[in-house]
Amino acid sequence: MPTVVEFEPLHPETLRDPYPVYARMRAAAPVMWHERLNSWLLTRHAECLQVLKDSRRFAADWRRIGTAVPEHGVSIQSMDPPEHGALRGLLVSAYRAQDMAAVERGAYLHANHLLAGLRAEGGGELMTRFAAPLALHAVCDFLGVPAPDPATFGEMSDAIIRGMDAGLAPERAAPGAAARAGLSAMIASWFEPPPTVGMLGALARSESAAGIPRAVLMNSMRVVFHAGYTSVYSAVGSAIISLLRHGVELSRLGDPALLETAVEELFRYDGPVQATGRVCTEDVELGGVRIARGQALVLLLGSANRDPEAFSQPESLVLDRQPNSHLAFGWGIHACVGGLLAKAVVRLALSSLRENSPRLRLSGDVVHKPQATQRCPDRIPVTFGA
Ligand code: HEM
Repeated sequence: MPTVVEFEPLHPETLRDPYPVYARMRAAAPVMWHERLNSWLLTRHAECLQVLKDSRRFAADWRRIGTAVPEHGVSIQSMDPPEHGALRGLLVSAYRAQDMAAVERGAYLHANHLLAGLRAEGGGELMTRFAAPLALHAVCDFLGVPAPDPATFGEMSDAIIRGMDAGLAPERAAPGAAARAGLSAMIASWFEPPPTVGMLGALARSESAAGIPRAVLMNSMRVVFHAGYTSVYSAVGSAIISLLRHGVELSRLGDPALLETAVEELFRYDGPVQATGRVCTEDVELGGVRIARGQALVLLLGSANRDPEAFSQPESLVLDRQPNSHLAFGWGIHACVGGLLAKAVVRLALSSLRENSPRLRLSGDVVHKPQATQRCPDRIPVTFGA
């Protein structure tokens, strides 16, 4: 099958700004075969939503088409009904049992503490000094576990995320697997004994009643912890970049209603999870294209969120956009469990920045990490102004 539009997710230009090539794909071949990814790429909102809503024909669980999944890979994200329901129910109950207001207060105080250091220096680099430690603190507090050292953990995390792009860069597979094993060991240590507080504490109290195997629960906590941390950290960074590049004065975000719609819009405009995957369980037609059972689909959520058929002025940052049916947190049975926490952390980060550094400005080039599945700024140099 010919590739209609060249799409190199790891090309420096695509890393800098993937949205122009998404637009070309949406216009020329919204359901497009990609040889190297051995997958169909979906770039329109309509087809992405259709797939996310239909777990019968589009599986997250590759075992349904007879593909073996290694034990470490079986988690909430790779299961489908009926198995998925009990585990998701358990996680959602443990999630909802948390005192979100206390987590938010803690995150806000931590954000202020981190910015005080930068303010004293008149600015600095926001990803390592602000976004990463803030996200790590918030997610660990939410789970009820001790926060690992941000620098060591950051290296492990980067290797895991790069491993997700092994289809494009096979040399990333082995370091990714080694880092994932290290993370699994850290998660296992949290269960011995489990905390009495936080989401992990709540899970540990109810896991035996739900009959979920410990290995599956631990894999799922690895997903929750790692995906939660990396997505929140990327989201904080991308939100800051989008606002500064559009010259938005942070003082405008003092209006709580605007802050709320602005955070949704920042997730639509440049969200961290650019892609997710599914596999067809039967032959289907999607966007006028025949797809065979067993073929893989990559849903480019970042592209769906800029689709002119779903959003007016999709390339503009419209802070009061309403409604805003973006797919940054997915949709349907696998939709993100942690959306509220993620949005709260971005909101608090922006509020803290507004209070500590209302004249925040970019002071150098923004660089993105060389990774495709998750879009994440590497460096955001800023000055705090007068
Ligand atoms: C900026 C932050 C976040 C973004 C953009 C994000 C995005 C997503 C997306 C797009 C999915 C759906 C994937 C799919 O359908 O294949 C997902 C699933 C999930 N997310 Fe998040 N996420 C974020 C933060 C979090 C946090 C903080 C947590 C937990 C504390 C979390 C827990 C989960 C879980 C457990 C799933 C799997 C749900 C299932 O398969 O049933 N996420 N997330």
